[in-house]
Amino acid sequence: MNKKHRTSVGTDSWKTAIDRIAVNAAATVAELGETCAGEWDQACAENLFTETMIALWRKGANRLQHLFPHSNAAIKQYYLSRITPILGATVFHCRASEKPCGYAGDYLTMDMIYCGKPLPIGASHPVSARVDSFILDTSVARACRNRHDWLVGELESHWGNGDRHVASLACGPCREIKTLLNLHRAPHDGQVFDLFDFDDAALEYARALLEPDLKDGVQCNFYKVNLFKTALSRKPISNAGAFDLIYCTGFADYLDDRVLVRLLEGIYESLAPGGTLLLAQFLDRQDHPDRNAMEWCMNWDLIYRTEEQLNNVFSQARWDGGVQIDKEPLGLIALCRARKPK
Ligand SMILES: C[S@@+](CC[C@H](N)C(=O)[O-])C[C@H]1O[C@@H](n2cnc3c(N)ncnc32)[C@H](O)[C@@H]1O
Repeated sequence: MNKKHRTSVGTDSWKTAIDRIAVNAAATVAELGETCAGEWDQACAENLFTETMIALWRKGANRLQHLFPHSNAAIKQYYLSRITPILGATVFHCRASEKPCGYAGDYLTMDMIYCGKPLPIGASHPVSARVDSFILDTSVARACRNRHDWLVGELESHWGNGDRHVASLACGPCREIKTLLNLHRAPHDGQVFDLFDFDDAALEYARALLEPDLKDGVQCNFYKVNLFKTALSRKPISNAGAFDLIYCTGFADYLDDRVLVRLLEGIYESLAPGGTLLLAQFLDRQDHPDRNAMEWCMNWDLIYRTEEQLNNVFSQARWDGGVQIDKEPLGLIALCRARKPK
């Protein structure tokens, strides 16, 4: 970023501090727009773009978090309202921050992350398109893709071990099943996926995504269920003891301990003896590279947990046998495996 655009926010009030960051960002983006429109060196434009995004996405958010560690939703909303017009007609950023389904991390937002591009069509303006590509290439987005890859590997090996009845809780787009069905050694005869989500649009999207790839004898059943309510009612997710494998990714990050404990109890009841639970959870790390940016630039708050907190939640939920916790390669998401005794 140019020296003339640098800002000092010292003791300013939050609105002034935010306005300054936004005004500086707007100036840099305008400069970038002119650069892209002209005949300038592409490499220079690329560097300027990366600098701009780092200033806005990472440094701006870190700075605001530092200045306002106990900020409330209004402050964050104000920042978002100032930077969104600057970023232009983005597809991914708009959906992630505007939350048209009423909650963060809806099926289409997640599927854009898995596909690494805006869906169903890309942003038309080159700068907005680059903004989306930048965000979809951040560590947090790559960690989600690593989580997807882990799931595909697990599902493949559970199929190989004879686990036929599988449930996905808060299933979203079911992109991992799509990938699985396109593998050379894809599951076939006798594989049943029971897919649970509370959003009709997510279930419809997943149905349309999977249908063309369904092999003979593979069944996908879609269920509209509010798992939050199911958990609190202390009921099993579905028929008690029915499932060989239950997996749940991208959902625990939105549940407080009380609800997560109940959900884990319900999962325990729903698994067959010897059945497996796979659960993913964003880790609470001081050095998380994108946490502030998610919160300030997309209003996307998660409940982060340490490994110790995760172990604690599992043991409160009678998973006494313990849980094996691995991490995806970037170390941002815990990948938990727990087995119900035979
Ligand atoms: C972040 S996405 C994760 C989707 C998928 N599991 C994945 O890893 O890609 C969260 C999903 O949870 C669903 N969801 C949110 N609250 C829910 C609830 N109370 N009951 C059931 N599904 C819920 C949303 O509709 C969304 O599809």
